[in-house]
Amino acid sequence: MKFIHMSDIHLTVPGEIIDGLDPHKRFRQALDHIETHHSDAERIIITGDLTHWGECEAYEALNKAIEGFPIPVRLLLGNHDDREAFIQMNPNHPLDTNGFVNHGEQVDDMTFIYCDTNEPETHAGHFCENRLAWLQGILTSRADDCVLFFHHNPRPLHQPAMDSIGLVPAHSSPLMVLIRQHRRHIRHMFFGHTHLTVSGIFAGVPFACVRSTLHQGMPEFSKSEWLHGANLAPHYSVVFMEPDNTVIHQIPFTYDGPIKLSGTGWKDWAKQESVA
Ligand SMILES: [Fe+2]
Repeated sequence: MKFIHMSDIHLTVPGEIIDGLDPHKRFRQALDHIETHHSDAERIIITGDLTHWGECEAYEALNKAIEGFPIPVRLLLGNHDDREAFIQMNPNHPLDTNGFVNHGEQVDDMTFIYCDTNEPETHAGHFCENRLAWLQGILTSRADDCVLFFHHNPRPLHQPAMDSIGLVPAHSSPLMVLIRQHRRHIRHMFFGHTHLTVSGIFAGVPFACVRSTLHQGMPEFSKSEWLHGANLAPHYSVVFMEPDNTVIHQIPFTYDGPIKLSGTGWKDWAKQESVA
């Protein structure tokens, strides 16, 4: 099974740019690249920061961009999103019984679980008791492999500034307890928020996050209070999940330079004498 992980598309009211970049153009480039190269993907999951300022017009532009797209797209909220505006523009979108944009679905023989860590007027992530109970319910009811998607990094990443706006510690700890309890049937966790490429293991479960389709973070391990960014290439991820294997590729979809070709059958394990 193959799916696409994309994050932090930061759509604006069309015409508005961010850091000199047009988020709509970038998102369109990503979708076009996916349609050309990965039309066999079963899902595109966008892990939040769907918009930059949470306007209804930005969500409307998102809906138009993905309407009729040949691959089903699943949406999560990030810290830049506005839950009320999102629901207003997507009145039929699944919600949990408390009105959070928590939802899940069967994809092949796995359960994909999309978690809502948005909290109004803070960049930090929240996953309160109600949301945790929802996740506990779905994890307990499923015996198959589950894949979890969040916007926020659920644990610190040794990035002090970024970690200060990750999932708040009061909610991270019980979430990790739950994940550890169910780690044998949680295949992987995916999140965005950081605009970085990071992978590892939390509570016994592998995780991966992906760069933004727009502006990128730069790893910064000091105690600087500033988030660091750089003009790096945007990515989306292609994820392959087989019974015993998971493979994740980062795709630099805006690259338009030359592609170098090299043979694979050359017996060149010894250094060649240079030709005078
Ligand atoms: Fe973001």
